[in-house]
Amino acid sequence: MSNNLEKMDSNLRQYFSSQKLLPILTVDEKEVCEDLANLLCESGLNTFEVTLRTQVSLEVISKMSSLGNFVVGAGTLISPSDVSSAIKAGAKFGVSPGITPELLDECEKHSFPLIPGVSTASEIMNAYLRGFKILKLFPADVLGGAKMLKALAGPFPECEFFPTGGINQSNANEYLNLTNVIGVAGSWMAPRELIKERDWSKIRKIVKMSDWKI
Ligand code: 3PG
Repeated sequence: MSNNLEKMDSNLRQYFSSQKLLPILTVDEKEVCEDLANLLCESGLNTFEVTLRTQVSLEVISKMSSLGNFVVGAGTLISPSDVSSAIKAGAKFGVSPGITPELLDECEKHSFPLIPGVSTASEIMNAYLRGFKILKLFPADVLGGAKMLKALAGPFPECEFFPTGGINQSNANEYLNLTNVIGVAGSWMAPRELIKERDWSKIRKIVKMSDWKI
């Protein structure tokens, strides 16, 4: 493993050593940044992912990062230019729905910690052989959920997963109990529509319902 990859891996481990739930935020208005970030922080969630899916995503990453108390990652990284934009905005780590050699190269070049998305054993092999051992299993629920993760533990004992896609407060525990799951990620903690409506009390309620696994 290159020095860059070792550093990337150890940074990710540090971010997720005490937080097992990773909220995925899709934010349409940058004015909500402070309220939303503070609300999540109240429940011990100071690390989160902001998807690059709206016009203001990069500004949101930048604003949330500047607030100081948070570790903000960039999600939905697809092209190498997404990686450079995320780094420029202040993201501390990235998450991608899948893998391409170009994406992995760009992250390694900048020592930018990436949780690459995988959905098959072959993709896991590609990522693992490049030195990426913390992987996003996406879309986890559709792929076979906890059953699939148990099956993957055999051939890939060194890989740890962030199952994502179709996870919520009622099934998160099933995943978190597995030895090869480092944490679970999802939009259920702060759904896009509730952020749009600035319904902080509903989001607070959901986050509190998920408290048991933070
Ligand atoms: C992602 O960005 O990884 C997924 O959209 C999250 O899936 P979820 O909305 O089912 O949590």
